[in-house]
Amino acid sequence: MLVSNREPYIHKKSKKNEIVCKKSIGGVISALDPLIRKHKGLWIAWGSGNADFLVTDTHKKVKIPPENPCYELKRIPLTKKEIENYYHGFSNRVLWPLFHLFIEKMQPKETYWNTYCKVNKKFAQNILSEIGKDDFIWIHDYQLSLVPFFIKQRKPTAKIAFFWHIPWPPWEIFCTLPWRDELLSGLLQSDFIGFHTFSYVSNFLNCVNRKPGVKLNIKKKLIHYEKHTTKIKHFPLGICYSEYHQIAHSSAMLKKAAHLKKLYGNKKLVLGIDRLDYTKGILNRIKAFELLLDENPKYREKIVFVQIASPSRNKIEEYSLMKKEIDEAVGRINGKYRNETWTPVMYFSKEISLTSLLAYYWISDIGLLTPLRDGMNLIAKEYIASNNENTVLILSEFAGASEELTNALTVNPYDLHSIARAIKKAVDMPSDEKKYRFQAMRQKVKNHDSEWWYSNFLKEWEHVYA
Ligand code: G6P
Repeated sequence: MLVSNREPYIHKKSKKNEIVCKKSIGGVISALDPLIRKHKGLWIAWGSGNADFLVTDTHKKVKIPPENPCYELKRIPLTKKEIENYYHGFSNRVLWPLFHLFIEKMQPKETYWNTYCKVNKKFAQNILSEIGKDDFIWIHDYQLSLVPFFIKQRKPTAKIAFFWHIPWPPWEIFCTLPWRDELLSGLLQSDFIGFHTFSYVSNFLNCVNRKPGVKLNIKKKLIHYEKHTTKIKHFPLGICYSEYHQIAHSSAMLKKAAHLKKLYGNKKLVLGIDRLDYTKGILNRIKAFELLLDENPKYREKIVFVQIASPSRNKIEEYSLMKKEIDEAVGRINGKYRNETWTPVMYFSKEISLTSLLAYYWISDIGLLTPLRDGMNLIAKEYIASNNENTVLILSEFAGASEELTNALTVNPYDLHSIARAIKKAVDMPSDEKKYRFQAMRQKVKNHDSEWWYSNFLKEWEHVYA
């Protein structure tokens, strides 16, 4: 049984009042959907679409995906107040900024916390009503940290694992959370917790170590707390390599890529793809590109920077503010350098289809992914799985993926000069070096795909009960 806040597929009413079904955006969905499609099971999540409950049965379940129904989704309805206080409030105005080290953006409020507890309890009740004797419950991400506690309260023998998809911050940051103790108590009712990287595991153990009543076995990564033991391990999440590789070589994708290539001509194409989020460092990236053009006239008219950003959480002020700043920066650079034949920055603030996305990956010369902080950044892995050897990946050293993709050009995303230097290096990189770096990264992405992640996680989890 797989549990997450975001549902994998959303049913919405179109302008013509027809019900349409769309796949959701985000790392958790793109990694878990292919897995559950293959291995089956039940997925439980918040039903967030305005037509979601028009297609569910009396148990609020629907078979998905629509074109090839192969697993069941149980949808949990949330009230407007719950959405505001639990999702926009505690999850995205408190935990999200804090765990990405933006303490100053955190807005802790009692109402947010109380509703977060209430909604986590609601998730637990829905899980308990579905659970069979031997079921494994696999809970995902920061929105649901208290669910293990509410389940174990009613069913102490339940088998629960948790995967934490965002960074775990150092104690000095974590300790500023007013409910730090309660959050850890909730999470520590899981039998097994996975993180993307070793540094998140070590930050977590360090935070847990400060909690009264906790005993640690550092060597075995075991946490003993209130007669319960939790095992901790890092498992870097992978993507479904074969799916991306296959679509990237399909005729539809190649046709789309050929069309796009004509539009951009012989210019070097630098590509940024993200959810529109302040953690992704989009503004710094644009400023770094400006710096490159300012200081290196020889690159003008030879490079185009394409930034595609899918809108996200736009009800939160920080996000609309950032969007405005990005719009202004793009306008400034294009105003300064644009001419009849060259637009330096092409910025698309919209969702695009998977085929178009892969076509952009394919025609780009450089992938520029420079989050200020990112749990993993699966786009870096998608970029490699869908691309050819004539491309260079520039990656932030503060993305979890940089611990694995060591053949990318790594940059400090706060240092604009470091980004500009890396773009220069990538543009001028000899093809032998590109090939060598790319092949090494492709091997990693291929070997450590989502199936590898899933089977290793499951194996370790089963060991917990041995
Ligand atoms: C990140 C988080 C996920 C979340 C996704 C989309 O990838 O780790 O938990 O699903 O962002 O965010 P949203 O708020 O739209 O679900």
